[in-house]
Amino acid sequence: MKQTISSDFKLGILGGGQLGKMLCQAASTWDITTCVLDPDPEASASGVSTHFVQGSFRDFDTVMRFAQGLDMITIEIEGVNIEAVEILEKSGIPVFPQPSCLRIIRDKGIQKTFFLEHDLPTAPFKLFHSATEIMEAIQQERLKFPFVQKTRLSGYDGQGVLVVRNHGDLKKLFEAPSLVEDYIEDALEIAVIVSRNANGETSSYPAVEMVFNPVANLVESLLSPARISPELEETAKGLAIKTAKDLGIVGLLAVEFFIDKQNQLLINEVAPRPHNSGHHTIESALTSQYEQHLRAIFGYHPGSTKLKMPAVMVNILGSEGFSGPAVYRGLNEVLKEEGVKLHIYGKKQTRPYRKMGHATIMAITAEAALEKAAFVLQTLKVEA
Ligand SMILES: Nc1ncnc2c1ncn2[C@@H]1O[C@H](COP(=O)(O)OP(=O)(O)OP(=O)(O)O)[C@@H](O)[C@H]1O
Ligand SMILES: [Mg+2]
Repeated sequence: MKQTISSDFKLGILGGGQLGKMLCQAASTWDITTCVLDPDPEASASGVSTHFVQGSFRDFDTVMRFAQGLDMITIEIEGVNIEAVEILEKSGIPVFPQPSCLRIIRDKGIQKTFFLEHDLPTAPFKLFHSATEIMEAIQQERLKFPFVQKTRLSGYDGQGVLVVRNHGDLKKLFEAPSLVEDYIEDALEIAVIVSRNANGETSSYPAVEMVFNPVANLVESLLSPARISPELEETAKGLAIKTAKDLGIVGLLAVEFFIDKQNQLLINEVAPRPHNSGHHTIESALTSQYEQHLRAIFGYHPGSTKLKMPAVMVNILGSEGFSGPAVYRGLNEVLKEEGVKLHIYGKKQTRPYRKMGHATIMAITAEAALEKAAFVLQTLKVEA
């Protein structure tokens, strides 16, 4: 294969959202040529990739055409045309993560079954073809409230996830093939990002804690390192590495966990790519998750995952009540603060709750970083 760290090397990236943008930025520091495919002509990565192709990564012919002349293909989203990447892999173009891993991960039913078959702890679940089947199971008392319904395909950012607490919630059931799993009461949530290269070398970042806003009951920020015991942290890292090894994945794997009231770790789901819970690593770790992904897919030694400082990541979301060309308010107030790093994804149009960017806030202590993150959230607004 061609030397990978070189502008002669053409890395294809399926998907050009914010993860694609940050991956291109990391690739560019290594002088790698990036070619990005995304349907949105104004996709976040379009301004930073070496070549940008407008087209659907879900479409077989478009992906096949896009791949001509590429030296390697990676992804920033799971929902790519799987048949195309399988054929490309067979034709000799390395595709990382491998299509075989994507097949397992992109269908939440297959993914959960994989956990079960590999002794990876996860919430008990059942598979259903339709909402009617779920209703029958309730009538026959084979299924009890509360439970969580998840559509098997194309869930993202909590879409396709429904917490069903009582009969009243049943009218909201998704019609699609889905899995139903136990609702984990008062769970803490953490994520661990690991990497694995083709030589089997692995690395793991410290666990990241999802910090909930108790009033809104929403994840408000992500804190690294997580405030959990060293034993739990080691167990989580071990499970994440085992998952990556069992999958045989080459690249990054983000593993989301629940910690239940008995302090047991349960794997919620995995993502075979850079992840929201790793954004902070750009500034706060010795190696960013994006560089780590490149190291893994190119077969280089993993970089150090040590943290320089505690960090909090907050998403910058479109404000409620505003749709249209994005205007950022409060930038100067936020930038005045020590340790605040802004990432604006470059999406031209804002909508309520659309992910428009993120901020990483670093401080000497986690408490100080969390306090400053609350200020950033109050001050920085995306309006139209
Ligand atoms: N079994 C469960 N018990 C309790 N809460 C759950 C359960 N499953 C999901 N949730 C809640 O719903 C959120 C989204 O679920 P999940 O991560 O499976 O979906 P997703 O669509 O892939 O979301 P994302 O892209 O945001 O990670 C979880 O982070 C958690 O807060
Ligand atoms: Mg999730």
